Formats: sequence, C-alpha cells, structure tokens
Amino acid sequence: MSRVVVIVGASSGIGRAAARAFAERGDRLVLAARAATPLAEVRAECADVDVLTVPTDVTEPDALDALADAAVDRFDRIDVWVHTAAVMAYGRFDELPGRVFDQVVRTDLLGAAGSVRVALRHFRAAGAGTVILTGSVLGHITAPYLGAYVASKWGLQGLARTVQQELRDSPEIRLCLVNPGSVDTPVYEQAANYLGRVGRPPPPIGSPQRVARAIVDCADRPRREVSVGRFNVVMRAGFTVLPGLYDVLVGPLMRLAGLSGRSVAANDGSVFAPNPAGAAVRGGHLPDLRQLALGPVGVVGAALRRRLR
Ligand SMILES: NC(=O)c1ccc[n+]([C@@H]2O[C@H](COP(=O)([O-])OP(=O)(O)OC[C@H]3O[C@@H](n4cnc5c(N)ncnc54)[C@H](OP(=O)(O)O)[C@@H]3O)[C@@H](O)[C@H]2O)c1
Repeated sequence: MSRVVVIVGASSGIGRAAARAFAERGDRLVLAARAATPLAEVRAECADVDVLTVPTDVTEPDALDALADAAVDRFDRIDVWVHTAAVMAYGRFDELPGRVFDQVVRTDLLGAAGSVRVALRHFRAAGAGTVILTGSVLGHITAPYLGAYVASKWGLQGLARTVQQELRDSPEIRLCLVNPGSVDTPVYEQAANYLGRVGRPPPPIGSPQRVARAIVDCADRPRREVSVGRFNVVMRAGFTVLPGLYDVLVGPLMRLAGLSGRSVAANDGSVFAPNPAGAAVRGGHLPDLRQLALGPVGVVGAALRRRLR
C-alpha cells in the first residue's frame, strides 16, 4: 500500500530529490517549504501520485501543527515524516549578526525539533510511523565560518539520539538520522554571507539523489543513523583522533575547498525569506548526467558553469 509521506523542505536540493524518489515508489506526498511556486513545480514533477502542497515556515509558531492537520485532512494518516528544511550562514562567529545566528538555529535545530514533536504526537496516537531527519557530518565535526549551522547540527545529533532512546518502548515508531557529507545543492548559494566569499561544497561532492535514496531506504528499513559520503569517516577520525592536527588543517582547507573565489557583499541570503528563483535539485557543482548524455555541448556547458562559480 502506498505510504503518506510528509517532506518539510521539499522545494529544493535533497528534499526535492526525496519527493521525486518517493513519488517513483507510488507514495502519496505532502510537500512543505516557505515559497509556494517551487512547491508547485515539485508537485508537477511528481504528477503520477497524489500530492498536497502546504506552504509552511518552520519558524512560525503552530505552522507544523497546521501542516500535520492538512496532511491528515487530505489523506487520513501520516506514515513517514521527513525533515530536510535548513538554511546556512557564512561568517566568523563574532562578525555574524546575532539575529542571523539565531534564525539559523531557529530553522535548523528548533524547526527540526518541532517536526519531531508534531510527528511523534501523530505516531504515538497511530501506534507506528517513521521520522527521518537530515543532520550532517558537521554534526560530528566542526569547520570555521559555519558556527550557527554546526551548532544546530550538533544539537540535532544530540536530540536524535535522545529521542531514539526514549522510543525504545515503542518499536513501531522509529527516528532515523541521515548525515550527508558534501552535496551538490543550492544551499551554499542561498546562504547568508558575512564572510565576503561565496561558499561551495568541498570535494568529494555527492549528489542529492544519492542522499534521497538513503532517505527512502530509511523509510523502508529504519536505521538509527546513516552516513552518506565517502569522506565522512575520514573527517570524523581526524577530528576525534588527531584534534590538534585537524584544527591546524581545517581552516586552510576550508578556505581552499569550501569557499569559491567569488566575492560577495554582506547579505542575509534565504535565512529570513525564501529565494524561490534559487530552488532546484542541484546546485551546479557537479556535472549532471543528463547534460553529459547531451554530448560535448553539454559537457562544455557544465565545465564553463563550474569555472564561472
Ligand atoms: N547540501 C549539502 O552539502 C548538505 C550536507 C549535509 C547536510 N545537508 C542537509 O540536508 C538538508 C537539505 O539541505 P539542501 O542542501 O537540500 O538545502 P536546499 O537545497 O537549500 O533546500 C532547503 C529547503 O529548506 C526549505 N526551508 C528553508 N527555510 C525554511 C523554513 N524556515 N521553513 C520551511 N522550509 C524552509 C527551503 O525552501 P524555502 O526557502 O522555500 O523555505 C528548501 O526547500 C538540510 O538539513 C541540510 O543541512 C546538506
């Protein structure tokens, strides 16, 4: 039987790829994010299944309750609740405005906590259900200039483990944490920036489709924590076993691989308000296989776009 899957953060990147992947499985979808237009585009991309879109800001009080109510009104049930909504901000901790720091934490940590609270209320009443959160390898390690995001992901890691322990008496209710490494999505370009240089995903970069497959896999076979990214284990080992060396290297590596050469004026990005024009599955940091299939013109176009970033 097809499941009812709520995806919060479904209009871009990993959430949008997950919506497509669940739709391919025939699941019914409830898609949420702040901006309505990209949500309508995702609904069109998933036209083979029944889709409800609910514009939702996870930082607004009661918004997630209203989302759950809309899902139950339409489909009578919720089986899986996926939370991928997040924003990023670049800047040294003491140079990033406090209001930006607070809004990143409000979105990435408190918004995810709100999703867990609302989903568990429904799953406790129904006796079963699966919550899937997207953390990050940055929930296990740290990197400079991303303090608000890193603090949120460490908080989410702690919250996920705590809730998993509390759910041990309810084996039919599961909470999974999917922790990607570097992924080719628009989140880097959408980020607030008080550093002066545009961010980018450091290599090795994975595809959002790969993370989406891990999310769908968790819905099929729930697991406590899934790491997606070849380099995650190496970074975690370096951070844990050789913290002094890690701290010497991480700054230069971040400036070399995690920041582009493009300068940018201080701005709040999509932290306080969505930028619908920037929503897409991919961020353009990896060649798209569909472009490659178009032949040499596609390859040259992809290479040019990467050089221009
Ligand atoms: N990309 C990576 O390299 C990477 C690596 C590790 C972990 N992750 C994690 O993966 C998840 C997805 O990230 P992504 O890279 O796919 O980002 P993305 O492409 O920027 O997508 C973020 C999604 O969150 C929504 N969103 C942002 N603020 C919101 C709010 N206040 N209320 C509701 N929705 C909101 C956005 O839509 P609106 O703007 O319209 O609201 C969008 O749909 C995040 O948890 C991120 O931390 C990403």
